[in-house]
Amino acid sequence: MTQDTLTIVDNRTNQTYSLPIENGAVRATDFRPIKTDPRDFGLMTYDPAFMNTASCRSSITFIDGDRGILEYRGYPIEVLAEHCTFLEVAYLVLFGELPNETELKSWMQEITHHTMLHENTKKFMEGFRHDAHPMAMLVSTVAALATVYPEARNIHDPSNRLLQIRRLIGKMPSIAAMSYRHSLGFPYVYPDNDLSYAANFMNMLWKMVEPKYAANPVLARALDILFILHADHEQNCSANAMRSVGSSHADPYLATAAAAAALSGPLHGGANEEVLKMLDEIGSRENVPAYVKKVREGHGRLMGFGHRVYKNYDPRAKIIKWTAEQVFEVTGRNPKLDIAMELERIALEDDYFVQHKLYPNVDFYSGIIYQAMGFKPEMFTVLFAIPRTVGWLAQWQEMLLDGEQKIARPRQIYTGHRARQFLPIEKRVPLAVTHP
Ligand code: CMC
Repeated sequence: MTQDTLTIVDNRTNQTYSLPIENGAVRATDFRPIKTDPRDFGLMTYDPAFMNTASCRSSITFIDGDRGILEYRGYPIEVLAEHCTFLEVAYLVLFGELPNETELKSWMQEITHHTMLHENTKKFMEGFRHDAHPMAMLVSTVAALATVYPEARNIHDPSNRLLQIRRLIGKMPSIAAMSYRHSLGFPYVYPDNDLSYAANFMNMLWKMVEPKYAANPVLARALDILFILHADHEQNCSANAMRSVGSSHADPYLATAAAAAALSGPLHGGANEEVLKMLDEIGSRENVPAYVKKVREGHGRLMGFGHRVYKNYDPRAKIIKWTAEQVFEVTGRNPKLDIAMELERIALEDDYFVQHKLYPNVDFYSGIIYQAMGFKPEMFTVLFAIPRTVGWLAQWQEMLLDGEQKIARPRQIYTGHRARQFLPIEKRVPLAVTHP
């Protein structure tokens, strides 16, 4: 017997089993032969919320949560944020290597070529209520793109897949900007293909009557850095939704819409919007200790704190703090930063937060920058969805090309009734009586 095995004794039967260990994991299906009798289904593993289950092999993003390390395709996030543009990083995340000059130039052209939306998509967006949440508009419009590009269903053709990937990355800022202008009642602005990815997005957001929009280069670079930081984050809730929906061979627009819907929740990407609400509720630095005490006593959570994987400072939060300083030199300091910094200081000294290893995550400071740039909090998660589309698509492709993957279909432990006696309607007891 080699060292890389796990020996299990089933005390119900006194049988011994030896399971191979590979990459620090045992296969859940290797437990199935462990039975009490031949009719037994076999032993399952029970892991609500995937606390300790690897659902795939992946070579896209590496995280060491204890050391606060994040790498895309082996490159530290700090290096990529300092030296690359978002589209360069998108190429890396999707194809595994950084592009050379020629590759980058044609990649940028390909994405730019796909920034326009079909006029019918524009009309579709005009139908949303004036006060619709921009994230709900984004999710619905991305799903609606499946009606514009029905050939996207042909997911087994690599060139067709690549076309949809380019379209989604190109169109995401256009949809995001339209949802923003829609909520303000402003006319939509068409993309300007002379501009960089981030600057063009700013153009579609903020151009008014000037003939050509000129983005502030510091703000455009800050947005680009924020996009880099949000490009992928391995098997998070929305990436898992993308893989799960994609595993049924749904088309990429519908799978991306599902992933964006997962992102919208306040425990995931929606946390950045919640952070701002929380800072508003706190109101001033003096109120911070009382707020932290309230959370420690079990009333609510500190939004923008904690992470399933990071048990150390989120490396993205550090870069965001640095980026915030650059942005504030242009926009003026967002006074919420002082409350946030005080909150971080007090929480990091507090026993509860220390013991639970709760540190600021990516969402803690990003909203403060976005607000200083002029975004309403409802737009914050949309700003997360634009770059994360790259990660979703990379995860989707990897899943489709992985020979071990099948339709995602977990097992359950059934806890309900069995073989009940059917009662005719006149004999049924009201639910309010049986389950008061
Ligand atoms: N404030 C106070 N207590 C917390 C917090 C928090 N933000 N986060 C976790 N805890 C406590 C939690 O109450 C639990 O305590 P106990 O063991 O005593 O019952 C313990 O820490 C473990 O929490 P958990 O909910 O089991 O941990 P999880 O891995 O399931 O949740 C999380 C991770 C991110 C959902 C959670 O930390 C949280 O709700 N944070 C606030 C929302 C947030 O900032 N989300 C953004 C995450 S990062 C970016 C992204 O994913 O989009």
